Amino acid sequence: MLRELFIEELKDIYWAEKHLTKALPKMKKAATSEELAAAFDEHLAVTHEQVVRVEQVFEMLEMTARAKKCEAMDGLVKEAQQIIEDLPKGSAVIDAGLIIAAQKVEHYEIAAYGSLVQLAKTMGENDIAEILQQTLDEEKEADQLLTELAVSGINISAENEPEE
Ligand SMILES: [Fe+2]
Repeated sequence: MLRELFIEELKDIYWAEKHLTKALPKMKKAATSEELAAAFDEHLAVTHEQVVRVEQVFEMLEMTARAKKCEAMDGLVKEAQQIIEDLPKGSAVIDAGLIIAAQKVEHYEIAAYGSLVQLAKTMGENDIAEILQQTLDEEKEADQLLTELAVSGINISAENEPEE
């Protein structure tokens, strides 16, 4: 039963990662700060690798990779789209909004991978746990970078921005 739960969660994160590869280019395009755009670009490359890692895990379980719609990621990406639609283009405030949206995504992924790593360990699948731990570490790094970008200037610029 635990194995089935693990596989269901794996299908969920597989869908989530693939969905994110479609959203990140739009977030990059909407970013005002070059640093933030570069961070989204970098995370897109990382996300492509993470998709491959999930496929690798399916393979290790001798299964074909299958995705199951992740309602949470669908909603989080919609929130990001809303920010892009609602906030002024070329502003610092849109960057502040994009960072919030991206951090919500990272926190979802940290929860998902953290759980998958623990389940894999419980099942005695240490090789799988190791692979997923790599992704978990990357998500934590991405989250930290976003915090740094926010506190190192973007939030202050957004605060000081003249109203339109
Ligand atoms: Fe990811």
